[in-house]
Formats: sequence, C-alpha cells, structure tokens
Amino acid sequence: MVKAAVLYEVGSQLVIEDVELDDPQAGEVLVKVGAAGICRSDRHFMHGDAPIALPVVLGHEGAGTVEAVGPGVTSVKPGDQVFLSFVPSCGRCKSCITGNSHLCDNHGATGPNMYDGTTRLHKGDQRIHHMGKTACFAEHAVVPETGVVPIHGNIGMDKAALIGCCVPTGVGAVTSSANVQPGSTVAVIGCGGVGLNVIMGAALVNASKIIAVDIGEAQLEFAMKFGATHTVNASDRDPVAQVRELTDGKGADYTFEVFGSADTTKAAYDMAGKKGVVTIVGIAPVGAEAGINAVDMVRNEKTMRGTYYGSTHASVDMPKLLDMYLAGKLNLDDLVVRHYSLDQINEAYGDMDNGEVGRGVIMYA
Ligand code: APR
Ligand code: ZN
Ligand code: ZN
Repeated sequence: MVKAAVLYEVGSQLVIEDVELDDPQAGEVLVKVGAAGICRSDRHFMHGDAPIALPVVLGHEGAGTVEAVGPGVTSVKPGDQVFLSFVPSCGRCKSCITGNSHLCDNHGATGPNMYDGTTRLHKGDQRIHHMGKTACFAEHAVVPETGVVPIHGNIGMDKAALIGCCVPTGVGAVTSSANVQPGSTVAVIGCGGVGLNVIMGAALVNASKIIAVDIGEAQLEFAMKFGATHTVNASDRDPVAQVRELTDGKGADYTFEVFGSADTTKAAYDMAGKKGVVTIVGIAPVGAEAGINAVDMVRNEKTMRGTYYGSTHASVDMPKLLDMYLAGKLNLDDLVVRHYSLDQINEAYGDMDNGEVGRGVIMYA
C-alpha cells in the first residue's frame, strides 16, 4: 500500500488515500519519491482543460530514490537517486529513432498506463492510471526504466524534482527549441515555475532585453531575481503595445507563451517583430484556437512553433541541467518557495490559483 493523491472526478479535490502499487515488471523501476513539484499541467487535468483517463494519480515533476528494479533493468540499481521524466521513450518508434524521443509514439499511444497498457496502481479491481507514467503524487511510483535519469551530483530533492519538468521545459524552450541568439530581445508571457526557467534560459544565452509579462505585480517583481530586465503588467494595459514600446516599436525577436490560453498565444504572436520566433510552451485548454494575422506572418517572416518538454531529451539534458545548477548558473534555490506534505496538496494547488509566486514542492518523508 502507498499513500497517494487520487483524482476521481474532474473539478473535485484530490483524495489522499492508500492504494495498491504492484511490483515493477520487466523494464520498470520502483522509486521512493523524494519530492514532487506543483506544476500547472496537473491542474489542467483537475480542471478538465486536458483530458485523462480516471481515476488517476497525477504528479509528473519529481525525483526520488530507486528501491527495486524489475527484470532486465540495467541503467539503475536500488539506492540510486534519480530524476523522473514523464516523457519516457521506447527507443523503437519513429519519433524515438528520429531524435524526438520526448514525443515517443508508444508513450503517446499508451498514455497514463505503462507501456504494456496496464497499470501498477489499483484499488482492488479498480485500475488507477499513472499520469505521464510518473504518478509522483504518491509516496512510491513504478515507472519505465527510461522514465528515470540518474542524479550524479549533490542536489536537494526539492530542486531535483524541478529538473523533472519546469527546468527542462523552460530552459529547453530557449536553448533546444527557439535557439535564442545572444543580444536579442525576448518577451516571456507567464512567469510561474516554467516561465521563470524561460527567463533564466534567456539570461544564460545573453539575451539583451528580457521582458517578463504577467498579470501579477508580485510575479513580475519575483521575475527580476531570475534575470528579467523589464516587466509588463498585462492587467494594466495591452501587453502587446507595452512590449512594442520596450523594443523601440519593433516587437521582440523571441516571444514565449508560458501560461496556456488562446489569448496569450495570440499576444505572443502579436508582440514578436520581423523575423520573430514565437514559441508556445503553455498548454491551452483542449479545443482552444488562437486567431493569427496570416498576412503579417508572411510579410514579417515570423515563425511560430510549439515545444513539448522544451524539446529536450531527458537522459542527455537532465545531467547537463544539474551541472548548470551545480555551477551556480541556474537559480533553483530561490525558485522553490514553499514545501508541503502530500496531505496538503489541495492547499498547494489553491496557493497556485491564488497567485503565489515561484514553485511549491511536495516533500515526502
Ligand atoms: N497574461 C500573462 N500571464 C498570465 C496570464 C495572462 N493573461 N494569466 C496568468 N498568467 C500567469 C500567472 O500569473 C502565473 O504567474 O502565468 C503564470 C503561470 O504560472 P504557473 O501557474 O506557475 O504555471 P506553470 O507551472 O509555470 O505552467 C505554465 O506551462 O507546462 C505548461 O501546462 C503548463 O500551461 C502550463 C504552463
Ligand atoms: Zn510540468
Ligand atoms: Zn518511442
């Protein structure tokens, strides 16, 4: 039995209860979860903005310690500390063999089940699904071997958890997807856990202006700690006009949407200048459509692209991100602002809804 936070119904609170977790099968690993981040992606499932099979244990931003391995597992052993990755890869599908393992077709097809289509989580006969094959809003998790990446240096579990999602998603959006060039201007819409990592990524590659855009004054002030050079409060006045003013009327060279809505997607497009690269990171509600000025796209040669998991490869990029943290180049220490127990998870999401700054993290004993 493991204690877990289970989502039974869209719109309802998570239920904290004991559920059964089967042993890891071939190619799977049992992890004692150390910490799990409060990311907005889980909130999308709770609100029904993103569909998922129910009941489900959410939680996709985590780190922990390997406790047992199933047959055939060779890359980790009990006692190893690991990052969790919610984009495991099968290594055989078209996406995996063409360098896009973060978009693994077989992971997509099996969704919140293990690769064999079954679950290890259940309550008697009732199957409980594993979000991202991670399900780290539970004391223990069974995950695919490719869903863990060894931690090779000294990092607190709370910070390590962030390397499971918001760090690769945000920093990767800058370095692996948009490929932001030194000296360029950048606007970032949405300065939560992921957006702050976009800002840190832009600072790392020496962008000249980094314009933080949010609807909260506290978020904007907090963003200055992570490398923002200018702030725009979108609830005061049209953020597109404000970003244009801050870029001499030209619009930004790179813009990032890091909230997840049709309006902010359109704003990210509109505030980009000539040859502008618009990167969509946030996940808008299913069915959302953003109206884009088609003529402007051609005349100004704009590029618009989505990025998932920052277009990173967990096994290659997580160790690099850890090294960047250890070298003092990623300020994850200030990013973690609140710790909660698993019992407090509904309160933690309430704090996110109420606009608390930075990242909250669930800590396990
Ligand atoms: N304009 C600008 N910022 C906004 C707006 C808006 N209209 N509405 C909300 N925001 C800000 C919030 O104030 C908050 O600071 O967006 C930020 C979102 O931060 P978090 O709630 O911490 O979300 P985060 O976990 O960073 O995820 C952001 O990335 O991976 C995806 O699914 C995730 O869609 C989500 C997005
Ligand atoms: Zn996330
Ligand atoms: Zn694959």
